[in-house]
Amino acid sequence: MTLRRYHAPVWDEPVIMATGAPGRRGQLFPLAPEGAALVPPALRRAAPPALPENAEPDVLRHYLRLSQQTMGMIGVSLFGTCTMKYNPRRGEQHAARPEIADLHPAQHPETMQGLLEAVHGLEQILCGLSGMDAFTFQAAGGADAAYTQACITRAYHAARGEAGQRTEIITSIQSHPCNPATAATAGFQVITLPLGPNGYPTLESLEAALSPRTAALMINNPDDMGVYNPEIDVWVRKVKAAGGLAFYDHANFNGVMSKIRARDLGFDACMFMLHKTFGVSKGAVGRRSVPMAARQSWRASCPGRAWLPTANGSILSMAMPQPPGCASSWAICSRCSKPMSGRGRWGPRAFRKRPTCRSS
Ligand SMILES: Cc1ncc(COP(=O)(O)O)c(C=O)c1O
Repeated sequence: MTLRRYHAPVWDEPVIMATGAPGRRGQLFPLAPEGAALVPPALRRAAPPALPENAEPDVLRHYLRLSQQTMGMIGVSLFGTCTMKYNPRRGEQHAARPEIADLHPAQHPETMQGLLEAVHGLEQILCGLSGMDAFTFQAAGGADAAYTQACITRAYHAARGEAGQRTEIITSIQSHPCNPATAATAGFQVITLPLGPNGYPTLESLEAALSPRTAALMINNPDDMGVYNPEIDVWVRKVKAAGGLAFYDHANFNGVMSKIRARDLGFDACMFMLHKTFGVSKGAVGRRSVPMAARQSWRASCPGRAWLPTANGSILSMAMPQPPGCASSWAICSRCSKPMSGRGRWGPRAFRKRPTCRSS
């Protein structure tokens, strides 16, 4: 069989900044009454932004061309430092179904068992991919989950009477900025390790940073430059020997899915970005959700546990304030993650030990 040589097209035409003409328009949205007055004077623009004025078909064509230049991936996430990924359109169709789109946040759990069952299944898939025991779906984004981790760290050490002593969180210079930022916001001193000759910090620099003041390691791996630290299991062991917790920011999980699991590396917790790995487009389908996993041993410190035990054992409900605002995200993810799990191609059957996931 001859393999076709795929390649992305290159368009020999002016970029959008060089096209258009004054007054050319697409849709004109009505201005909000007194809209400008609502913006504080210091934040108002002195002059309009230097944007090209184009007709709607030209703008559509512009984005179509961009997608063709990224191997035809319409809906590709071009956000941040996270792993780029493709969001299948059928996910959006699935989320637009009235059973999901029409759910109301104040609805009784009894009336949305289908959604809760899907999220419960998603939790089990994520447990399989991470080796963790349970997830909370409380956080609404990656930085939110990182902040949750920092707060859990505080609660964990406070419960041991070490709150005043364990004041430092260690991260690396190529970790996502939300790791040091949320650690600092939660009141910790941040130790940022510099890079070593291999593109990630040396073990010696970690050892020098560890002390009885160490509260936790918060790190992503592969890091923001896509560099994977192959010594991460040794790092985690050292942090824990020093009495700290280890948190895995899994925003770049795409690169390591089915190759490693957070728990096997010794991490206490990890977070998965549904809007990065699991087919939800970033910021496009309503409220986001970043499930964060906990190990059984310190789950008591974890707020917003997802599942409540039920009176008759058959009804699912969630112990968190935000269901089902993320219904669309969860619905897309539960659908798109199935092929990655269990008997799926990327599933944890690649691993010898498959932990069970407890649901209450
Ligand atoms: C490694 C990493 N962690 C955390 C975040 C923060 O995620 P969010 O933008 O959902 O707050 C990002 C976002 O780009 C990321 O790449």
